[in-house]
Order: sequence, then structure tokens, then C-alpha cells
Amino acid sequence: MTALADLAKEVSGCDRCPLARGRTRAVPGDGPENAAIMFIGEGPGFHEDQQGKPFVGAAGQFLNELLQSIGLQRTDVYITNVVKCRPPGNRDPQPEEIAACQSYLDRQIALIKPKVIVTLGRYSMARAFPNDKISAVHGKPRKVGEIVYVPMFHPAAALHQPALRKTVEEDFARLPRILANLNQVDDAAAPPDEPQQLSLF
Ligand code: URA
Ligand code: SF4
Repeated sequence: MTALADLAKEVSGCDRCPLARGRTRAVPGDGPENAAIMFIGEGPGFHEDQQGKPFVGAAGQFLNELLQSIGLQRTDVYITNVVKCRPPGNRDPQPEEIAACQSYLDRQIALIKPKVIVTLGRYSMARAFPNDKISAVHGKPRKVGEIVYVPMFHPAAALHQPALRKTVEEDFARLPRILANLNQVDDAAAPPDEPQQLSLF
């Protein structure tokens, strides 16, 4: 068994947080171990909980369309979530739940070593950029360590708001270019360009 499959098995039996009690199935993630792009959503919804697979409901259908719009298939990318078990009634995941689940996501990233991580929604974005506002930074690539992060709005939010839908479609349309120019993305830790100042000393 691969390390990623081992991890999925571990997640399926996990009871580290209270979300374990309400789940039908845990949703570890789906996709090839050598995927260059990883998508991280929020948490499983009703259909994901039933099937044990991420993004298989309405938001997943939209995600499939977005992938196809840039020539990608589901099988090209790895897809997972910040929490692997469905929050009751699709409520937001709580900080303790995200913290309890975090090591699974960290291990998935370490095993898959994606070149690009697309975060879908604010909980997913907050892992890498806790102080940013999605409305300000969506679609803008930034490097953290070896990985280029591209924050995006959650497709479920975009489904119901025409303006957001257009934004998500535009952000997706920029992905191929970002993928082709990964080495030109600025380091998130690097200071912004400043005009040269004359030293007084
Ligand atoms: N929304 C998510 O954030 N994740 C899923 O897997 C499905 C819907
Ligand atoms: Fe375990 Fe994560 Fe499920 Fe909580 S959400 S029970 S930490 S797999």
C-alpha cells in the first residue's frame, strides 16, 4: 500500500475530533500521488459524506467544469479538504476541528509535493495566509517555501453569486499561465519592492 493510501485508511478510522461522530464516511482526498496541482476545499458536504469522495456534489460539478475549462481532468489533480469529516448541517469547521485534522493535510502535502496549491475558500486559505482577505488576494500566486499558492473563492459560494462566478472563472483562466511560469512567482516572505533610498551613512 502506498503511504497516501495508508494515510487515507488512518483518516477513515480517525476519532481525533467530534466530527467523527456525525460522519457516514470520512473523505480523505482523491487523486494521483504525483499530482502537480492540489486543491484544498473546506470540508465534506452531504454527498461527499455519503460517497467518501471530495467535491462530488453541486460545487464539485462546478469544479469539474472549471478544470475542463483549462484542459484539466479530475484525474490530473489531487483534491482534499481542511477537515476530512462533514460538519453537521454543513456548518463552518471550528478552529479545534481544523487543528485536530491539520496533520493529515500536512502529511498529504509532504507526500504529494504539489507544485501548486489552489485554496478554495477562506479556511483553506487561512492555513497559508492567516492575515489576508480573500477579496484582496484571490487569483494572485504567492510562493511559500517550494509551493506556489493560489487562493480562490469557494466554488459553492460562486455557484449562487453571478459576480463571484465570473471572478472564479477568471482566476481559473489564469492558472495555466501561472503553471507555466512558476519560477517567476514572488516569495510571500520577501519584502515588497521598495524604491532605492540614499543612505545617510
Ligand atoms: N465543499 C468543500 O469544501 N469540499 C467538498 O468536498 C465539497 C464541497
Ligand atoms: Fe479526524 Fe479530521 Fe475527521 Fe476530525 S475531521 S475525526 S480530525 S479525520
